[in-house]
Formats: sequence, structure tokens, C-alpha cells
Amino acid sequence: MTTLSPEQIHEEVKARYGRLASEFKVDVAAANTQAAANTQAGTCCGDTVSDGFCGTEFYDVDVSSLPADVTGLSLGCGDPIAIAELQPGQTVVDLGSGGGIDCFLAAQRVGETGHVIGIDMTEVMLEKANRNKEKVGAANVEFRYGHIENLPIDDNTADVIISNCVINLSPDKTAVFREAFRVLKPGGKVAVSDMVTQGQFTPKERADMSLWAGCITGAEDVADYVAWMQAAGFHHISIRDKANPDVELAGLPKDMGPARIFSARITAVKLSGEL
Ligand SMILES: C[S@@+](CC[C@H](N)C(=O)[O-])C[C@H]1O[C@@H](n2cnc3c(N)ncnc32)[C@H](O)[C@@H]1O
Repeated sequence: MTTLSPEQIHEEVKARYGRLASEFKVDVAAANTQAAANTQAGTCCGDTVSDGFCGTEFYDVDVSSLPADVTGLSLGCGDPIAIAELQPGQTVVDLGSGGGIDCFLAAQRVGETGHVIGIDMTEVMLEKANRNKEKVGAANVEFRYGHIENLPIDDNTADVIISNCVINLSPDKTAVFREAFRVLKPGGKVAVSDMVTQGQFTPKERADMSLWAGCITGAEDVADYVAWMQAAGFHHISIRDKANPDVELAGLPKDMGPARIFSARITAVKLSGEL
């Protein structure tokens, strides 16, 4: 862990994504070139404004129906929609919705009888997301200001919780999973893309807020991730390396060596009958 307070981490992260959102301009060619470089580097979320955008290189699902204002402001490290198995009529919550890309993809799948709620703590990002909502015409999407550690959502609301490269940024992952469990309906599912590690970052690496806010040194070992999810009440937890999805990593012991960081696909369920 780092010596910075949770509030300081939130402020650092918010500053980064506020700046990225404010300075974002649609330049598809440049974004695609930079996206390829970022993807090759294995992570996203940006180290500077100029290299911050991932485009849609991480997506397995088709994103071509969305405008460049949306796809160009994609800052994720995976594709939660590909593992969410969304159905018409479902309610979906997106933790750290950014410019809204996964909300709009979810909205297409849950249809007009479904509902998508994107949560973000960065006001400028919410403004962009709401402008994108108008552009896309996604009447079944709403964006709410809030922290993923204290969700502005009632208990037992969501059928599915998605998130793309956000939980690693949180200073309190225990609270994130506790809140995710609370707002999920019994029988609901978590389908998350996030950066995780096998191994540990050093305290010096953790204290580097540029690395933390760039979705690197806030990432935690798979075993810790599983322990926090279990403590929140989740079952059937699965964590797989997006680049090597056949191998189940949940259940491996904590790795005390140097960190190997990778984009992971994370799924779990809140069993029926659990409140
Ligand atoms: C790396 S970007 C990912 C955005 C989006 N999920 C995507 O794939 O494009 C992280 C987003 O999460 C938001 N965020 C980070 N930490 C948060 C927290 N603790 N609570 C709410 N939002 C948070 C940031 O404001 C930013 O918009």
C-alpha cells in the first residue's frame, strides 16, 4: 500500500482523468496510432495527456456503431461487455464509466426495457459522457456522480456490474467490492476488466502517483483480489489473463515476487437468496 491518504489518491486520479477529458479532441488517426502503442505496452489509462487514449484496441466486441467522440475517449484495458452476457431488460451498473463507451455498448444489449447507470467521480468526464449520450441517443443510459467505494445506488438494483480499468485506481478495493455486492440483485453478476498482478510492487512504486493513476501500481495480486471479493460475499470467482484466458488464476497463492502486471477478465456472482 501507499502512504498517501485515500482522499489524496482520489484527487490525483481525478486530476489525471479530468485533464484527459478536457483536452480530448477527436483525432481518430492519431488516437489509433497511439492506441496501438499503448496496447503493445500492455496497459492504458495514459501517462501523459498526449499518450492517454487507448482507442478500442482492447475490444473483442464490435464498437463500429459508436461515434469517434466515444471510441476515441476509451481509456479501458479490456472488454467487459464480451464477458457480461447481457440480456434485454437488465439493469447494468458501470463502475468508473469515463466517456461512456461500455455504457453505450451495454445499452444496445439491454435494449429499451433495460437501464444502464454509469458512475464516475470526475465532473469533466461526466460532462463528456452526457454529451456523448445525446450524440448516441441512448435514452436508457444515465450517468451519476459518485465514488465506486460509496455508490449512489440503492441495494439490490443491478443484474450486472461492469467496469473497465477502474478498480485498480481505488485506494479502498475492499469497499468497492462491498458496494458492488450491495447494489447487485441476488443472482447478479460482476463482469470486470482490470489490471491485476501476480507479484508485488515496491512501496516506492506504489507511492508514484503517476504510475498509480496510469493504472499500474494500484493493481494488486490476484490472490488479494480474490480475498476481497470473497470477503464481500461473492462466489464462483474467476480471474483470467485476457491474453491467456484458458488458465484460471483465482485460487493461486499470493505471489511475493516482483509484479507481473496484466489485463484480466474477472467474473463472480452474488448467489440467489443472498441479500
Ligand atoms: C481509466 S479510466 C476508464 C474509463 C472507462 N471505464 C473506459 O473504459 O474508458 C478511469 C475512470 O474511472 C474514474 N474513477 C477512478 N477512480 C474512481 C473512483 N474511486 N470512483 C469513481 N470513479 C473513479 C475516473 O474518473 C475515470 O473516468
